[in-house]
Amino acid sequence: MTKAIILSGGWGTRLRPLTCTIPKSLIPIVNKPVIERQILLLKTVGVKEIVLAVSVMSEVVEKYFGDGRRLNVKIHYTDEKYPMGTAGAIRLAEDYLKDDNFFMLNGDVIMDFDFSDFLLSHQKYGGIGTIASRIVEDPSRYGVLIVDKKTNQLYKFLEKEEYSPPEGKIIPMPINAGVYLLEPTIFSYIQPKKKVSIEREVFPRVANDNQLFHYPITGIWKDVGKPLDLLEANIELMNHIIKNLKGKVKNLIDDSVDIDPTTNIRSPCTIGKDVVIRKNCSIGPNVIIGDDVYVDKNTKINNSLIYNEAYISENASITNAIISDNCLIGKNVQLTGEDENLIILASFVKVDKDVKLISKNHQSISYCHHEIVKESIE
Ligand code: GDD
Ligand code: MG
Repeated sequence: MTKAIILSGGWGTRLRPLTCTIPKSLIPIVNKPVIERQILLLKTVGVKEIVLAVSVMSEVVEKYFGDGRRLNVKIHYTDEKYPMGTAGAIRLAEDYLKDDNFFMLNGDVIMDFDFSDFLLSHQKYGGIGTIASRIVEDPSRYGVLIVDKKTNQLYKFLEKEEYSPPEGKIIPMPINAGVYLLEPTIFSYIQPKKKVSIEREVFPRVANDNQLFHYPITGIWKDVGKPLDLLEANIELMNHIIKNLKGKVKNLIDDSVDIDPTTNIRSPCTIGKDVVIRKNCSIGPNVIIGDDVYVDKNTKINNSLIYNEAYISENASITNAIISDNCLIGKNVQLTGEDENLIILASFVKVDKDVKLISKNHQSISYCHHEIVKESIE
């Protein structure tokens, strides 16, 4: 039976300060951690055993998933003392994965494509590895695939800076979507007990041996690398989920919420468990609120993420912001990010009443966990 390994051990540096307290793979996307969404997708093709390749903040991930019983899967964890690279990390799981082909997923991508057809195609190609690929307009942030359009074989795998666009012109290219099917033979390409990158040191050699293929995917896909990706991924996935409900609902609102009837919810919005929203608020569009959040009267929120247990006082105004768990926003606070330059508050930040944080001149404004914000920036 096909198993899976999910890489969930990077530092998540570009998502700081959010990742100072929440490991990247547990950052919620529409109120569920990225890797929980991946596990649910793997279950649709009968995967029952999953290895989480944890490293940074591994104890937090282990505490969240335990042995997998809650999701009705068996979860194992690798013992990676410090980040061993994307191939070094899977080599540590060889004993779990040596008997059959297996899925390997970067633990920071959202997607929703047909895993069973992916598996069938991998078996049909007959190579050591098949990489899900996605065409993107600007491939510079990703691993680029040079492919044979007829056979889907990969001639070359070029990780980020190894690829230079022809004549310096950015053109759409198929990129590595961070989702693979691999045969156990892959382990013979990875030196044990060493830090090894699958993208830089393994895939180029497998491609050279004519054993690497790609499987083009379309539809929703996103690497959640930076805060703006996180906001966009939430909004895109929320729209995707709502669309799949085929016109029945416009928002994803838990039954347990207590929303005053004078408050206006502008779709699309997601509102988690036990959220209370008082009178005359305007929430949305594009707002995702976690569980146990309190929003006092006359508050406006749009294009923002609010994580669990945040407390937002009356008359606040929040636009283009990510507010992590347990933040406390005072009365009359204004948080206004620019489209690409968000206001980011990590866990337990407190913003004093009347403070205004307005990002300008292409600079985002962010605060580390437990900071107390007393001064305005406008
Ligand atoms: N266990 C473990 N150990 N996990 C790791 C390590 C490690 O040493 N290093 C990275 N990871 C995990 C990260 O947590 C993430 O889930 C995944 O591996 C990919 O690492 P990123 O740091 O997010 O890489 P990237 O986004 O710059 O590039 C990768 O993903 C792109 C698609 O999203 C590459 O695979 C690119 O080729 C690809 O296009
Ligand atoms: Mg990434």
